[in-house]
Parts: sequence; structure tokens; C-alpha cells
Amino acid sequence: MTRSILITGCSSGIGAAAARSLKTRGWRVFASARKAEDVERLRADGFEALRLDLDDSESIAQALRELLERTDGRLDALFNNGAYGQPGAVEDLSRDALRAQLETNLLGWFDLTNRVIPVMRRQGHGRIVMNSSVLGLVGLPFRGAYVASKFALEGLTDTLRLELRGSGIHVALIEPGPITSRFRANAHAAFLRNIDRERSYFREKYAAAERRLTKQGPAAPFTLPPEAVVDALVHALESPRPKARYYVTVPTHLFGTLRRLLPTRALDAILRAVSRGENR
Ligand SMILES: NC(=O)c1ccc[n+]([C@@H]2O[C@H](COP(=O)([O-])OP(=O)(O)OC[C@H]3O[C@@H](n4cnc5c(N)ncnc54)[C@H](OP(=O)(O)O)[C@@H]3O)[C@@H](O)[C@H]2O)c1
Repeated sequence: MTRSILITGCSSGIGAAAARSLKTRGWRVFASARKAEDVERLRADGFEALRLDLDDSESIAQALRELLERTDGRLDALFNNGAYGQPGAVEDLSRDALRAQLETNLLGWFDLTNRVIPVMRRQGHGRIVMNSSVLGLVGLPFRGAYVASKFALEGLTDTLRLELRGSGIHVALIEPGPITSRFRANAHAAFLRNIDRERSYFREKYAAAERRLTKQGPAAPFTLPPEAVVDALVHALESPRPKARYYVTVPTHLFGTLRRLLPTRALDAILRAVSRGENR
């Protein structure tokens, strides 16, 4: 029987690549996006496309209702992927900017996940894959809102995995480092939208951060294409023994190891050096 998957954030980047690859592998892919024009484009590309805005509970409920009507109430897998980065120093984050980051990257994901779990419990199996980040493992300057959303995702997912033991539902986290996508362009838009650069203590550093966000081509060493994440996703979905965590890219392996080995101060010194390097 054809297996079905719902993917969020398919308008670009990793979500779009995942939708394409899984369709080729024979999955029935429900590719979702929050903008109507992207849903249309996905339909034109031959996907069963759904409109799903993670900031809006009703949109999440409606998308899932529509999907379950088409599948007789079944769904084999969920790939939580749609998100954005809100750059800016922690002291420059307004309550609204921080709330918006958590609404999309965290609350929307668990709103959707908690609606899918009963479906998977009923059918006795399911795979839920969370697209986290190396920034779910370590923090970096000017990424506090995003880091908070991914650390919280790690915590909720670790708990969920314990609670789902024996249910037939597997939960996996993917931890990508730098991946080519529209992530930086979308982060730059969020930066302009929500951070008062001129009044910030960090305004000079922000100029450098903006150069990085708007730079053409890869902004960080060891950047991989979205397909590297899709390889991990395929294992999490199709292997009889899916892992709890998938490290993708050299920086993830490096920082995933260093955070276990080094005392906090030593790790901080390395992370500050990385930040100085990227904002030079
Ligand atoms: N690129 C990286 O270096 C990197 C590294 C580690 C982890 N990740 C993670 O990978 C995932 C995908 O990011 P990406 O790199 O593929 O970036 P991307 O190209 O910017 O894609 C992000 C997707 O999320 C969607 N999205 C944003 N807000 C949404 C909302 N409210 N409701 C539904 N969808 C929403 C975007 O839709 P719109 O087009 O409508 O904005 C877009 O489809 C994210 O979870 C990100 O944290 C990325």
C-alpha cells in the first residue's frame, strides 16, 4: 500500500526537496504551504497540495481534515519542517517578535503533531520527523529567538519520544547545519521587520550580520544542499530501526560532540570565535 506523508513548509528549501524526493520514492505526498500561490504552484507540479499556516490553528485543523477525508482517516508520516529564523540580539527582541518566532517554529508544530498523534495511535503506527537544527544543540550570538525555538523543540520531542514508547509511533529529530535554501532571505526579512537596528547597542555588528544574510551563495563553510537532509529523512521514515537523532553537516557533528566534551566556558569561547568569524 502507498504510504502517505504530510510535509509543512514546501514552498522552498528542504520542504520542497523532501516533497519531490519522497514522491519519486513512491510516497503519497501531501505538500503544504502557507501562501495560496505556493499551493497552486505545488498543485501544478503534481502534488496533493494543502494550505497550512502554522500560525493559525484553524488552518492547521482544516488542512488535516481535508487530508484525512482523502485518505480514509489515515496518515503514515508527518514531517514538521516549516519555520523561519528571527535574527537579532536577545536584548533587542520584543515580546511580540519572540512570541511570533515561537508561534511558528514551536506552537504550530505541536498543534499539528498533537492532532496527528490520535490518527497514528488508532492505526497503530506512524513516523513523526522534526526538522530541528545544530542551533537546537548549541546557541550562537544574534540567533536567540531561533535557538530558543529549537531548544524547546528538542525538549518537547525528547519527552514525546519517551511517552510514545510502545505505541508504534517513532519520533526522530534531524539536526542540520548550514543548508542551501531561502532560509537566509526569509531571516533577513524578519530582521528588517522586527529589529530596531539604529537604536541597538549592536548596530555595527548588525551591519556585518546583514551582509551575511544577503550574501549570494553559501554564507558558511560546509554548507550542503537540501538533499542531505532528505537522506536523513528517508532513513527516519523508511528504516525498520529509525534513529532518535540525525546529524547532518560537519558543523552539527562538531558541535554535537563538543557540547558533550567541553565545559561551558570552553564551548562559549569557540562559539564566540565562530560568530566573530561569520560577522567579519
Ligand atoms: N537552511 C538551513 O541552514 C537550516 C539549518 C538547520 C535547520 N533548518 C530548518 O529547516 C527547516 C526548513 O527551512 P529551509 O532551510 O528549507 O528554509 P526556507 O527555504 O526558508 O523554508 C522554510 C519554509 O517554512 C515555511 N514557513 C514559514 N513560516 C510558516 C508558517 N507560519 N506556516 C507554514 N509554513 C511556514 C516557509 O514558507 P513561506 O515561503 O511562506 O515563508 C517555507 O516553505 C526549518 O525548520 C529550519 O529551521 C534549516
